[in-house]
Amino acid sequence: MPEIETQEYRLNLILDGSLKNMEVVRTADELSRYHGCELVPTMGALHEGHASLIRAARRGNHRAGQADGAGTQDRGPRGGAPDRVNTSVVVSIFVNPTQFGPQEDLASYPRTLEADLQLCRDCGADAVFVPDDLTIYPEGAQSAASAALSLPLPPSATQPRLEDACRPAHFGGVCQVVKRLFELAAPRGAYFGEKDWQQFRVISQMVESSRRTELVIVPCPTVRDADGLAMSSRNRYLTEEAREHALGLVRALRAGSALLEAGEQLQAVQAKMAEVIAAHGLSLEYAVARDQESLLPPRNQSRVRLLIAAKLGKVRLIDNCEVGDRAIGG
Ligand code: PAF
Repeated sequence: MPEIETQEYRLNLILDGSLKNMEVVRTADELSRYHGCELVPTMGALHEGHASLIRAARRGNHRAGQADGAGTQDRGPRGGAPDRVNTSVVVSIFVNPTQFGPQEDLASYPRTLEADLQLCRDCGADAVFVPDDLTIYPEGAQSAASAALSLPLPPSATQPRLEDACRPAHFGGVCQVVKRLFELAAPRGAYFGEKDWQQFRVISQMVESSRRTELVIVPCPTVRDADGLAMSSRNRYLTEEAREHALGLVRALRAGSALLEAGEQLQAVQAKMAEVIAAHGLSLEYAVARDQESLLPPRNQSRVRLLIAAKLGKVRLIDNCEVGDRAIGG
């Protein structure tokens, strides 16, 4: 198989006809024709969870009063009159080096560009933005990684002591790349999976504080396999046996949610979740009940969300749910 990084390979894919009706754009200039789009930022290795984001973007989910399919009327640069609202759906695929810590899996992060492009096309994306490092970081990825360490971050990226504590450089890199993608695509809506709940809160707060009132951050429900495992690009690292261990996360969420609904105290709920995680042979990073907006310990009026992170060997798994969420099954 050819190197997926080469431009020739990408061009071959596009020219073979299988991707017609969808454009692959690589430069800031090309992307500027999609300003005002609905953006689905990803790191590739796409799965059904991403497909649900693209479909939500296709429906233009955030635009109040619009029925399903409303976003399909204007197809942006190809056919849309210049004075009409651009409702193109753009998926970005960029494995962002600045959000990976030195011990993390940047080098082995799955890269499946050909399948990703097919999925985007099948879900109705108008364009896929596949930039190289220099398009995102003209100063170079190394300098960008250093700069990410000192970016001012919203409170949900530093106070909760959840992902922020386990992956200290992570949200600096996420905010940096998302901000840059927003500059380049100037989207009206941007779609993020609730599986990365803290990331969704961080990006929401970042946008709120930037006063970009024209941009709506849209959370989309976690998509799960039939057994309840939350879909993740990293699940492809799991063997059948490992999957059985990984199911500890959703089972812990079910147990915690049931206890909270039955009126149990937070400490007992968190202890129960930790117990389920240990019983599945996973090494616990955190299992907590938090206010779902601030991600701090809940107050009386809080809507409570349970959040878990655990490791299975080298594979890090996260999951979360709102208390009482029937979608986690059980
Ligand atoms: O959730 C992801 O895939 C990434 O963190 C994101 C938002 C695309 C930024 O690289």
